This record gives sequence, structure tokens and C-alpha cells, in this order.
Amino acid sequence: MKQYEIAFKTLAILSDGLFHSGEMIANELGFSRVSIWKAINDLKELNVEIFSVRKKGYRLPKAIKILSEKKIVEALGELSQFVNFELLNVIDSTNKYLLNQSKNKPHATVVCSNLQTNGKGRRGRVWQSALGESITMSILWKFNFGASQLSGLSLVIGIALQRVMQKIGIYNSSLKWPNDVLVDANDDLKKIAGVLIELQGDMESRCSAVIGVGLNFDLSTKQQKKIDQLATSITSVSSKSHDPNEIVSLIIKEIVNVLSDFEKTHFESFKTEWLDSRAFKDQKVQFQKGSGEKITGNIIDLDDDGSLLLLKDDGKIEKLLSGEVSSI
Ligand code: BTN
Repeated sequence: MKQYEIAFKTLAILSDGLFHSGEMIANELGFSRVSIWKAINDLKELNVEIFSVRKKGYRLPKAIKILSEKKIVEALGELSQFVNFELLNVIDSTNKYLLNQSKNKPHATVVCSNLQTNGKGRRGRVWQSALGESITMSILWKFNFGASQLSGLSLVIGIALQRVMQKIGIYNSSLKWPNDVLVDANDDLKKIAGVLIELQGDMESRCSAVIGVGLNFDLSTKQQKKIDQLATSITSVSSKSHDPNEIVSLIIKEIVNVLSDFEKTHFESFKTEWLDSRAFKDQKVQFQKGSGEKITGNIIDLDDDGSLLLLKDDGKIEKLLSGEVSSI
């Protein structure tokens, strides 16, 4: 039995936000009432808020959408033959899980988690997520070439996410170098998704990438307060309601698409699309290098390896390989 299986089956029943008695849940799932009581306690230990009222039963504070492996695999269609998809109920980090397991998992394994408890962000940050509020997933891709040929990979994943935004009707999204997805929400550019790529293997012969994607789906105010930058979510910027299962399958499809093209053409064929999708067009930005040094200028181009070309205030162009862009 999967970890927290009864807890998440119980959660699926409670996900409508209505009251359900322990007896009714036990009957529906075919488990004892004690098992359901334990499942409720497991969920509470995972910080899931559950109201218990005598004679009425259990209820979540509001309806939530949880992920279903069946729905995601169905939505993948033919691609489900190629992708090895796994839905976990709870994990500390989907990236960490796949990095640890990469030797035993096939190429194109995708791991998605309903609840990620210790998500990793770029540059040593924490990626905040909560049940029903975020999509957290990682893709294991085994390349037939070395890591030295992966320049621009992280920008290409940004492009895949940008394409997903267009597909679900979010047209005011843009990419902040290298791959943050921002959405223009009331004239503020707010982050909706981020990517963390971790590499294993050789520089020259073969390597694997674990590509982690975090997408804010329905951020609560409580969660928003924990995030140290402007952030938004799919539900806040969409006029229609979305099914997270559909979004997960779209992300997988687009990432598989771009990776298959990247294997043939590397970054070259993606450069124009990235530049067209970039945030801060015709606007001065600040760039903080890894060393902490800050420079200002305009993003004018990308080099063939995906590094940023910044036209500085002194008229010189600087090529930047790593660091953080922000608006000024
Ligand atoms: C960023 O800082 O913008 C990158 C965030 C990446 C978060 C995702 S969530 C799924 C995967 N597992 C992790 O621990 N991190 C990535």
C-alpha cells in the first residue's frame, strides 16, 4: 500500500469541502472506522486543516482539487506509453526523490506529489507549497550526451511552461531569465512558476537531468505570506476554473516536446521564442551576480549558450552566466 493511502483516499472524499461522517467514509472506502480516524490524524499531522463536528463528521475549510494518477495518465493519451508517471501522496522534495532513485528509474520518469513538504528552490531557497495549492513535479531525462552540451536547457524549460500558460488562456505571462514564469497582475509582475534543474553524470559522455517544476495553483493568503517575493497563482489570474490534472499533463507534454527538440537542435532553435517571451522588454533591470555584485542595464539578447547579454549603462555589453534579474 502506498504511503498515506487511506489518508489520501479519505481526503479525496473530503475534497468537496462538505461534511462527511467517519462512518460514511469508512463504508465508502471499505475500511474500518478506526482506520479512518487514524487517516484523519495522519492528515492533521501533515498540517492539513480538518474541522471535526460531533454528529456531522469531518470537513475541510474549503473545497480543494487533489491530483489523480488515473486522470493524469488519461490526459496524457499516447504519451503515457512513453512517460513513466508516478503520483506520490507526500514527499519532502520530488527533485530529491528522483535524484536518489535515478539509477533505478527509466528515462522520462515523471514524479508528481500532492504534498511536498521541503521543496527546494533555486539558489538555495525553499519552494513553498501546500496541499491543493501548488503543482510540484520533477522529470528525469537521460541524455545521450554530456552536461557540457546542456547550455540553455533551463531556458528551454521556461519556454515549455510559457507555452502551457498560453494553452490554458493565461496570455500575460513572461519569462524572467533564466526560467521564472511571471504574470502581469494589476501592473505588477508576479511569479507563478519556477524551475530547478539538477544534473548528474558526466560533462562529456552521458548525463541525466532532474527537472523540477513548481507552479502555484491556488495560493492561500497564509501561503502567500511565506513567500519572500511577489507571487500569484493560476486561480488568481484566470477567469475560468482549471483542473490541476489537466495542467500536469500539459506540462509533461510540453516539456517532453521541448526536450525532444533540444536533443536535436540544442538551444539554437529556441532563442527567438525565449526573447519574444521575455519580461522587462525595453526596461532597465538589475542583475545580481553570484559574487553579490549588482549591475544595471537592458536585456538586449541571449548568447547561443543561453547566457544573458546585458547592455550596461556605460554602453558596454556584458555576458552573464548566472545570477538573478530583478526590476528597478
Ligand atoms: C525556483 O526557485 O524558482 C525553483 C523552484 C522549483 C520548485 C520545484 S517543486 C518540484 C521540484 N522539487 C523541488 O524540491 N523543487 C522543485
